[in-house]
Amino acid sequence: MDNYDTPDELVRQRRPDIPVTCFRPESLSAAAKWFTQNFPGKVLYAVKANPAPYVLTGLFHAGIRHFDVASIPEVELVRGLLPKAHLAFMHPVKSRSAIERAYFDHGVRDFAFDSLEELEKIVTCTGKSKDLTLLLRLAVPNTASELPLSGKFGVLPEKAAALLKAGRKAAKRLGITFHVGSQTMDPQAYITALALVAEILQSIPRTKVDIVDVGGGFPSLYPDMSPPALADYKAAIEQGFDRLPHGDRTEFWCEPGRALVAESCSVITRVDLRKNDVLYINDGTYGSLFDAGHLGFRYPVRLIRPVPGGTEARLKPFRFYGPTCDSIDYMPGPFMLPEDVREGDYIEIGQLGAYGNTMRTAFNGFDATETVAVAAPPLASMYELEDAKEPATV
Ligand SMILES: Cc1ncc(COP(=O)(O)O)c(C=O)c1O
Repeated sequence: MDNYDTPDELVRQRRPDIPVTCFRPESLSAAAKWFTQNFPGKVLYAVKANPAPYVLTGLFHAGIRHFDVASIPEVELVRGLLPKAHLAFMHPVKSRSAIERAYFDHGVRDFAFDSLEELEKIVTCTGKSKDLTLLLRLAVPNTASELPLSGKFGVLPEKAAALLKAGRKAAKRLGITFHVGSQTMDPQAYITALALVAEILQSIPRTKVDIVDVGGGFPSLYPDMSPPALADYKAAIEQGFDRLPHGDRTEFWCEPGRALVAESCSVITRVDLRKNDVLYINDGTYGSLFDAGHLGFRYPVRLIRPVPGGTEARLKPFRFYGPTCDSIDYMPGPFMLPEDVREGDYIEIGQLGAYGNTMRTAFNGFDATETVAVAAPPLASMYELEDAKEPATV
């Protein structure tokens, strides 16, 4: 991977023709260190957020040893790169062949379930193994999250006790896990979810639970979303842990995706045409900007003019179209850029380390992309990087 001090240096030297991902190794380490130093338990990285090999190895080198995987390709990817990593298969619905291959070919012992049927599948497909860690996925309110994940997975609290008892019979270690929804804006969500866990555990005092896993949902910074400090999430979670029966004898896990990697990548795109307040750029919803189109996410942006001189023009709201022929390749923003932005200018879009490149498709042939490493700080940061700056344009 080539190295540059700043994205501007790359643009001026190379004027790239395809979108370029700017990877910031220091941001990745800062995020990993925050979690490993502050979370009172195991930190599992949710691989789906960004499976790039440089992200996985970067996190491992920064101290993350545990990985939440959701498919056999994710299992194979992490096993191949990081043979010593601990993998937990946290998808609550898996095919029989995926369970067999994870267990027998890759040594995975930790599996999530949210139904009796899935529990039976895991038990059967692992040959009634006596070495299983089984985690029951509980449905909890996702009301404080910008991207609710409820509905698809999770057992309702009133049915959890029976499934925990069934899981206890099959498991060497039994756990309970939940997800408060991605980009959760209120730490209270974790207190509420942990209170539900406490209530369930109090109702089955003879069923010992070894692990409580608070899942992901930790937020990142976006122009119209300023969450509380991560320290407030830590405090809320610790408060919830303190109220759990036998909390002192329980192992705690979390599974951050977004918060660990969002800041670690931005993408440089080029303006190929301007029509009033609409910019046609060379990346879009079939590329790294799925969430900007389909979920209306706004990302921090900054103009990079490829010629010396830059611009002093005031900022004005713009909308983006991506490079494909599809009109849903549209990102409403608004994205604040200098009013004299023109064809040939470049735009750096920040906070795309999570759920960015991983969503890229080959539709219309626009899948070419390149990755470089940059030393510059991210456009916005939840972490106290020594040289972190306020975002240039938010
Ligand atoms: C089981 C599980 N764990 C963790 C995550 C990561 O969530 P986030 O990126 O909000 O931290 C997800 C995201 O979908 C998930 O499904």
